[in-house]
Amino acid sequence: MTDLKVLIRQDEIAKRVAELGADITKDFAGQSIIFVGVLKGAAIFLSDLARQVKLDATFDFIGVSSYGNRPSPTQELKSGWDSTGEVKLTKDVDQSMKEKNVIVVEDILDTGLTLTFLKKLLAAHQPRSLKIAALLDKPSRRKLPLEGDYVGFKIPDEFVVGYGLDYAERYRNLADICVIPRE
Ligand code: IMP
Ligand code: MG
Repeated sequence: MTDLKVLIRQDEIAKRVAELGADITKDFAGQSIIFVGVLKGAAIFLSDLARQVKLDATFDFIGVSSYGNRPSPTQELKSGWDSTGEVKLTKDVDQSMKEKNVIVVEDILDTGLTLTFLKKLLAAHQPRSLKIAALLDKPSRRKLPLEGDYVGFKIPDEFVVGYGLDYAERYRNLADICVIPRE
């Protein structure tokens, strides 16, 4: 369990996050943004990304958990995990998103179930625009067709931790993104 392998170093993360921030700054020039962070994994990415966006911005946070057959952490590591497709809201946003530019900030885009659920939920607010920023993307795991608008790194189907991402709530504070070997 201590056998972590660095996949993306902190300097590479910082460089890429700065690029994403510059893209967002350009795309929304002259406008305001609401960053909606998905708790808890996106907290670190949101705080770094937002500081690279040179526009008027506010923060909000949303919480979700997945129903059903989530396996134990060890099982999750062995085979990834497959939810029933049901996502439950545990914390809603605090403000109306009507006519606002909303950027949902997520740590990783995996099966796509979470972000599909959140997109639908936030679209009901009738925002002016609704985009997804995901630090990581595992395209090979996708169950629902969904793409991020601002994606940091596409990665293979490995279980990663660090920079906000956890394994049984641990490792979120690692500066690098690391792989936990499956065996
Ligand atoms: P999705 O609904 O399958 O796209 O799930 C996304 C969520 O699964 C993320 O917000 C993470 O909490 C979690 N997740 C997926 N892959 C990993 C991983 O490799 N490490 C840690 N958490 C992960
Ligand atoms: Mg998690």
